[in-house]
Amino acid sequence: MLDGKRILLIISGGIAAYKSLVLIRRLRDRGVQVRCVLTKGGAQFVTPLSVSALSENKVYSELFSLTDESEMGHIRLSREADLVVVAPASADLMAKMAAGRADDLASTVLLATDKPVLLAPAMNVMMWQNPATRRNVDQLVADGIQMIGPDAGDLACGELGTGRMSEPEAILAAIEAHFATAGPLKDVRALVTSGPTHEPIDPVRYIANRSSGKQGHAIARALGDAGAAVTLVTGPTREVDPPSAKVIRVETAEEMLAACQASLPVDVAVCAAAVADWRVARPGNSKIKRNGNGAPTFELVENPDILATLSGLKRGRPTLVVGFAAETDAVIDHATAKRRTKGCDWILANDVSAETGVFGGDHNTVHLIDAHGAETWPKATKADVASRLADKIAETIAQKGLLA
Ligand code: CTP
Repeated sequence: MLDGKRILLIISGGIAAYKSLVLIRRLRDRGVQVRCVLTKGGAQFVTPLSVSALSENKVYSELFSLTDESEMGHIRLSREADLVVVAPASADLMAKMAAGRADDLASTVLLATDKPVLLAPAMNVMMWQNPATRRNVDQLVADGIQMIGPDAGDLACGELGTGRMSEPEAILAAIEAHFATAGPLKDVRALVTSGPTHEPIDPVRYIANRSSGKQGHAIARALGDAGAAVTLVTGPTREVDPPSAKVIRVETAEEMLAACQASLPVDVAVCAAAVADWRVARPGNSKIKRNGNGAPTFELVENPDILATLSGLKRGRPTLVVGFAAETDAVIDHATAKRRTKGCDWILANDVSAETGVFGGDHNTVHLIDAHGAETWPKATKADVASRLADKIAETIAQKGLLA
């Protein structure tokens, strides 16, 4: 269930920081991508090297680091996660959060994030019981922050009482519970194709098309936001990876088909890629030179049709297969015929004539075509088209059930 999720783990100062190393390990075992922020206090207890080695990722500590900011600004760091976990959450960091302060990387990320936050506090019992901490906890809970622990028991300072950070297994269970209750597509596995494909002519040249990948990536993002476990198979694009999706990058149609087949079974497949229809039969192994004999000619062969292949699966066909139809004229008629020949359940048809600006643009006007006819959706951003599609998929899955 956690496979492919992204967690930003903030480790603040406290002896319990060693337990966070175990938590990182458990999360990685479950396929979670873990990025860590280590505060100055946290670094007194665990080293950046161990955090980095266990998370298999770079560790972030400095707010004003030129290299960190150029590679991954603090805003992106705070947004490219499905959940932010603070473990251990020190009294000081909680006080900063409650007050909305941002004077180091951890507090800035916590102020800037638009993602849910789970705190695992750890401190001395008197600090936990102090009216100032009580006020801060009340404020944080009122702000929608989730809490796990602290537990009661022997404390590292030698005192007895409430203040121990919850065990890594309990924090892991809280993280699982968070994702289990998230979204109408929470048990759904989805496969999305996006972007163009590049079909090589020789090592330096290729055949491509104008697809930007914006619509496909927006769909992967919307399905993930609705709780689906998303695999995104994408051709070359400039789009950023959607949070939580497992992203497989490919170049050619054949690679895209192989990656899709390797990602089965899924409950929903959305083929939004603009797959090249043809490839060069025998691409050159070395750069084709101008040899003075005029332009070369190339034999083209047809590429596999990924949408038709997925739609025609005898065993393990996704419950719902959705295709796109890029048309320049008679949009609904052509797309209706395409739905039948490809064998998919729905086609989202769009007019890609140059004057519509759909290819590469941010807006789209689509017609949803199913067995009953066509429904035209109002012109909207590609993100809005994607979330409308995610809603419609959730409605249909609720009626039809999942694959198996
Ligand atoms: N598609 C695919 N594999 C291909 C070609 C297309 O999976 N080799 C999918 C696209 O992802 C899209 C749908 O088929 O969901 C329709 O793509 P489109 O380019 O509109 O149609 P084509 O099949 O290429 O037909 P034509 O170019 O003749 O309109």
